[in-house]
Amino acid sequence: MLKLAIEAQLPIVAVQTRDTLNLPEVIQELVKKKAVQLPSNGPYLEKTVYAVVFEPGKPSGLNLSMLYEKMTKAESTLLLVNPPQVTEPMFDAGEVPVPRPLMLKFLNAVVENQKRAEELTRGLGGCTLKEVAELCRLTMARDNSLTVPGLMETRKSSFQGTRGLTQVDTKQTYYDPPAALQKWVHAEKAFFLTGTDHRLIPRGLLFDGLPGTGKTAGAKWVAEQFGVPLYRVDIGGTKNKYVGQSEANMLMNLARIDGDEPAVALIDEVEKVFSTGIHDTSGTTATMMSQLLWWLAEHKSRVLTVMTTNNSKVLPRELYREGRIDEVMWFAGLDTAEAKEFVKAVIGTFPKVKAKLDPVELTIAADTIVKRASLALKDATDQRVSQAALTKSVHEYIKGLGNSLAKG
Ligand SMILES: Nc1ncnc2c1ncn2[C@@H]1O[C@H](COP(=O)(O)OP(=O)(O)OP(=O)(O)O)[C@@H](O)[C@H]1O
Ligand SMILES: [Mg+2]
Repeated sequence: MLKLAIEAQLPIVAVQTRDTLNLPEVIQELVKKKAVQLPSNGPYLEKTVYAVVFEPGKPSGLNLSMLYEKMTKAESTLLLVNPPQVTEPMFDAGEVPVPRPLMLKFLNAVVENQKRAEELTRGLGGCTLKEVAELCRLTMARDNSLTVPGLMETRKSSFQGTRGLTQVDTKQTYYDPPAALQKWVHAEKAFFLTGTDHRLIPRGLLFDGLPGTGKTAGAKWVAEQFGVPLYRVDIGGTKNKYVGQSEANMLMNLARIDGDEPAVALIDEVEKVFSTGIHDTSGTTATMMSQLLWWLAEHKSRVLTVMTTNNSKVLPRELYREGRIDEVMWFAGLDTAEAKEFVKAVIGTFPKVKAKLDPVELTIAADTIVKRASLALKDATDQRVSQAALTKSVHEYIKGLGNSLAKG
């Protein structure tokens, strides 16, 4: 918007930024022109971009109507940076975006590797250059290296959450993705991160299945595979007793994620809020639902929505129709043979235990663990077991081996 406003020679343009330090470079990159400090008494040059940065609490002392005329005459633009209010005759250009080439240039100077710089850039949507520099420094001080997962961790710990919005850690010791999800990520990753035709950018997934089958963990895995932040939108948590406030909170949170694109938005357990059986008399839920439906279908940002549910049958069909959700994936848990492989893999994440077991012992251990997990299930007719139940069963088995092994 800022670029357009300057190109259109709008006389007075208001912008907001959290990074005034790098603003001259950002403007230069955006409009290919240097911004000049506004001289206090003129003269005002032609086709020039002037800038005034407001300091909090200090009046600017500018005569805006006089400046409006002068700028119009000179075909120049005056940028007002962080004015306390946007009033007539300012045009509101909103937040200054950081141009991608500038961020790339900065990161390239840090890691000296174009491909890695590009990967890192994707995880930093919505950050200012100042924030990028800080996140890089903090990550390097902690890890002695700069990787996408490390950067995401730092970003998460410095994230200022709001009511109903949190950034979620995507790091997991072990996640074995269902084959369909793995295939989907493989096929869609490039379209999501670099696709230029917005019709081909994936929009969303619905994970349906029994408890403990890896739906929430699946959302973390997707964000981690894409190398972008994961935000959890807690629709129930944005509810407010004041009329209209809940919808406003939810939309604000969605807009915030839009601003941090590319990103993954997780709406966990949607049926808890939007099941067809829930009727609240205030109509808040219905309004929130229609706002969410609107955003899901209309947002143009690179934000992938992952919804999870234990029962898609109770969800209104429009919530996951094509155009909002690309695919519904069923999380079924594992049959006995799959469960044994899964258990072996989980044991493998405990190196000390794994080292103690030869292949025959490992198979016997896996059999025992799967049997115990299946026995714990109430429904004996269903042969499938959840990964959560299996993982717990592995942990109990390892604890049974004694403290020295369990520490590994
Ligand atoms: N595919 C998997 N690979 C590895 N671990 C898994 C997998 N699926 C589930 N788990 C284990 O089970 C735990 C619970 O998984 P998760 O929270 O994703 O389940 P869920 O499907 O979201 O359950 P619910 O419907 O109850 O929310 C995870 O923390 C992890 O330990
Ligand atoms: Mg879950």
